[in-house]
Amino acid sequence: MSQSVSRSTWTNRWAFILVTIGSAVGLGNIWRFSYLAGSSGGSAFVLVYLLCVGLIGLPLLMAEILIGRRGRGNPVQAMLNTAEETGNSPWWALLGWAGMLGALLILSYYSVVSGWIADYLYQAVVGIRVETAEAARQGFAALAGDPLRMGFWHTVMLTLSVGVVARGVVAGIEAANRIMMPVLFLILLLLTLWGGVVGDMPAALHFMFDFKADALTPSVVLAAMGHAFFSLSLGMGAIMVYGSYLDRHTRIGHTSLWVVGASTLVGLLSGMAIFSLTFGYGLAPSAGPGLILQTLPLAFAHMPGGRLVAVFFFLFVLFAAWTSAISLVEPFVSWLTERYGIRRARAAWGTWAPVWLLGLAVCLSFNRWSDFTLAGLNLFDALDQFASKIMMPLSGLMIAVYVGWRMGTALVREEIALRGAAFPLWFNVLRYVVPIGIVLVFCHNLGWLPWLA
Ligand code: TRP
Repeated sequence: MSQSVSRSTWTNRWAFILVTIGSAVGLGNIWRFSYLAGSSGGSAFVLVYLLCVGLIGLPLLMAEILIGRRGRGNPVQAMLNTAEETGNSPWWALLGWAGMLGALLILSYYSVVSGWIADYLYQAVVGIRVETAEAARQGFAALAGDPLRMGFWHTVMLTLSVGVVARGVVAGIEAANRIMMPVLFLILLLLTLWGGVVGDMPAALHFMFDFKADALTPSVVLAAMGHAFFSLSLGMGAIMVYGSYLDRHTRIGHTSLWVVGASTLVGLLSGMAIFSLTFGYGLAPSAGPGLILQTLPLAFAHMPGGRLVAVFFFLFVLFAAWTSAISLVEPFVSWLTERYGIRRARAAWGTWAPVWLLGLAVCLSFNRWSDFTLAGLNLFDALDQFASKIMMPLSGLMIAVYVGWRMGTALVREEIALRGAAFPLWFNVLRYVVPIGIVLVFCHNLGWLPWLA
């Protein structure tokens, strides 16, 4: 069954690069990257992460864009169209389904965490300062213990994200990224410079880049590999649907290099800014998930211009989260509009409702419902672990198998348009290195490789 609907196309290839960077750069690159690096020995994590981004992330990103563009449809339709064209089973559409629904699951808690950032931005704007570590800890506990306050900010963030998608691919998603992404990069540059002035940049650089072989344990390697995945938005239909709005003439390899480069750069620069402030104010980098919410505010409280810096910092994180959340809404909305001919705005607000409800449950999972657990995890952790440790690697694996082994070399070669040795290099990495890498991460995540722990 192929289906042709007139579809939007990004204004030009830079627009595609910008929105895809917008999707990739998010809470993952800032919040998750800095706390993982901070608690996994710094440089060992960072260097392996860089290696994995190049060896697994980049080839897979190209493969996912390829499916979207060749299939010209929402994730389910793109899989159906390409499967039909290449003589594969329509069951491959399950990959599209898994991505689309997985994206909504991620969105439900991503929106809640984005809401924390919005709350902290508000606190910075009205000038709430935390002077001591104990106050910072209590400040976060107060937020986590208050489902109404968390629910309020979750509602705000979800509404903002869905609102952008409701306006359309070019008028909504592209326009929002055109405004937010340049601002984001500008703030990041200023923050990094300021971090160098008032913080301890040499300490941050040593921490992130000095090679320490003994910190290089297998579990750090695997955590870094998993993070490469998350930070590039892979496997959940988001990149696929963005790729489906890409014109035929744009070179996928070239654009992917830009996306991977920029998103990695944002991770590294924000890590440098965050660690430089952390060390400069004598704080520990290993605070875990609370690093940017509990450790950094202490640095803000004691630095010159701290209130303004805090406002800029949380605005930066908020923009990063918002442009990523948008990309988690789009796969399902595009499916509703193309499959049922529903108007985009309706489809978007129809998507809002179930995600909002699930997000409210996530808000409650930190307090009233904290006794309710799945496999020993509260709902928030269960959703995060299920999506990032099970669904994302599995989808990524299937994408590598599909493009690497099932679509046919001739078609893949034509669509990817890589010159010279670049094609066999990419294709072989996709066929061998990517699946093996993913299987290793996956087994590790499920605790099947205890000797690697
Ligand atoms: N990459 C984003 C981040 O780093 C999160 C994200 C957006 C994502 N869209 C995704 C993760 C799709 C997985 C799949 O925060």
